[in-house]
Amino acid sequence: MAARPGRWLWTCRIGFEPHLYEELAWAGAEPRVLGEALVESEGKQGLVLAFARQSFRVLASFPGAAPELAPAMAQAVAALPASAPIVLQAFTPDTPRGNALAAEADALRETVRGLLPANRLLEDTDRARETGAQLVSLCVAPGAVTVGVVPAREALSLAPGGRRRMKRAGESPSRAAMKLEEALDGLPFEPGRGDVCVDLGAAPGGWTQRLVSRGAKVIAVDPARLMPELASNPRVRHVQESAFAFAPEEPVDWLFCDMAWRPLEVAQLLAKWGRRGWASHLVANIKLPMNDKNPILLRVRHTLTEDGGWKGLTVRQLYHDRDEVTVTAHRR
Ligand SMILES: C[S@@+](CC[C@H](N)C(=O)[O-])C[C@H]1O[C@@H](n2cnc3c(N)ncnc32)[C@H](O)[C@@H]1O
Repeated sequence: MAARPGRWLWTCRIGFEPHLYEELAWAGAEPRVLGEALVESEGKQGLVLAFARQSFRVLASFPGAAPELAPAMAQAVAALPASAPIVLQAFTPDTPRGNALAAEADALRETVRGLLPANRLLEDTDRARETGAQLVSLCVAPGAVTVGVVPAREALSLAPGGRRRMKRAGESPSRAAMKLEEALDGLPFEPGRGDVCVDLGAAPGGWTQRLVSRGAKVIAVDPARLMPELASNPRVRHVQESAFAFAPEEPVDWLFCDMAWRPLEVAQLLAKWGRRGWASHLVANIKLPMNDKNPILLRVRHTLTEDGGWKGLTVRQLYHDRDEVTVTAHRR
């Protein structure tokens, strides 16, 4: 099914279309599932949804990625106001059938790029927000290419299709560590030298290890064992007990939480930390193994903000998240 021009196209993790659909329906945005990992809707200014990885306003749809369609695609892009530079990206839905089109998507992007005036293109994606660029995406799905645009400053992600891969060449970090890296990447500042962090549900220690490598001191709370190299690290204190029994001796800078536990109970625990002013910043991964995820998320949000006083709450299923979402917030 092709996305209709003027509507918005959203992409999500495969299997999460019903949850994204429900969020859009709750917002009155008249959603329609187009296929695996793709949902379209009416435009709603400023909509930030937990289960969306990327979204854009649809400019045009095409029946495939054949090179002869590229001039019409370039024409749709060139018709955008010339006042802002263009960052041109291509992505496929993150599904087995979509990923098989990755090479075709790259080739199409290069062809369309070659048809656009070079002086309208911005190559450095990292500068997209500061330059007020427009993020133009070619979404190459089985049987349909959708061309769309979103101002980079409003984009959910600057990574094509919202796939923010945190693995660097030559590294083999745990998935848990990559979840943390991706969460920190979205924050305006990060824990650093001298900061005190509490890590609830810390074992085996992927998050703790990343925090220590940034120069932070970590109180790692988990009944399970930490990796030996962390257990003997002078900047790590392992408190081998339940997070529900733990209280810090004094307020800390950051509260991290990746506990494998029931989301509403975890939210109540994080709310207690907020109410008591025990931490200034929060990064937590909330597990959502149940089918009906949105009603639980609504209660989690309410608990953190109304009961816990956490501010600036973000709730997003990050690229490295599976049946879970990552929340960030601060106290002031
Ligand atoms: C997904 S793992 C955490 C992985 C960790 N972030 C890392 O990077 O290695 C979940 C952890 O939650 C811990 N956990 C579950 N219930 C807990 C509780 N009540 N208090 C503290 N930790 C708990 C488990 O022991 C387990 O180690």
